[in-house]
Amino acid sequence: MKIYDARYVLIGLAIFVGLFTIPFWYNMGRAVPPPDPKLDTPVIQQMAVKQCVLPLAEIRTGHMQLLNDWRTWVVRDGLRTYVAADGKTYNMSLQNTCMDCHSNKTQFCDQCHIYAGLEAGTVPYCWTCHIAPKENQ
Ligand code: HEC
Ligand code: HEC
Ligand code: HEC
Repeated sequence: MKIYDARYVLIGLAIFVGLFTIPFWYNMGRAVPPPDPKLDTPVIQQMAVKQCVLPLAEIRTGHMQLLNDWRTWVVRDGLRTYVAADGKTYNMSLQNTCMDCHSNKTQFCDQCHIYAGLEAGTVPYCWTCHIAPKENQ
């Protein structure tokens, strides 16, 4: 190979790398948009009072703990019914209770978890056993 051919190869490579990383340069200095979990599911739309199992502030930061407790109570203690602070009762089930209301997993759970950097790690592992809701994409 002659020397000037090598130079063209290098210029070509430089252009390629430049084009390839445009999306990266374009995003530099911009904040990642905060998550925007959607509540517009058929079941939630039907609710007169739109509330979760726990008050919003508590479920937002404490839903992992609640799920953990539910699992322990169901699997270890054989309990099925959860009585909320307001006296409402819930069947302690990820699939049949949480995901009945939050049937838009990709627009809800995943929104936050991807933002929080969890998607590649811990959270999807629940869905290797528990059935995620079917969504029309
Ligand atoms: C290896 C399989 C497996 C994985 C992974 C798994 N679970 Fe479970 N989970 C089960 C089984 C089996 C039961 C018992 C089902 C029953 O008795 O109804 C259960 C029960 C539960 C329950 C109570 C009953 C119900 O139907 O929801 C909750 C809540 C729960 N798991 C949450 C989770 C969460 C949250 C994760 C992820 C962090 C997770 N599980 C990951 C297998 C799994
Ligand atoms: C009866 C329907 C219903 C059930 C069951 C339910 N949720 Fe909710 N959830 C809601 C509604 C409605 C809101 C919004 C509450 C508000 O704005 O005050 C919400 C809010 C949340 C939020 C906070 C979202 C945010 O914007 O910060 C999380 C997290 C959440 N739910 C997770 C769960 C988990 C996990 C379960 C099961 C343990 C569950 N939900 C069960 C209806 C439900
Ligand atoms: C408002 C944002 C938000 C929404 C909506 C949300 N999560 Fe989370 N979730 C988080 C954050 C943040 C963490 C990590 C918390 C930590 O690491 O302390 C988390 C952690 C979890 C964990 C524990 C993972 C682990 O292994 O530690 C489970 C299980 C979980 N979420 C289930 C759900 C399910 C199911 C839904 C949908 C019904 C949901 N979450 C909706 C923000 C959210």
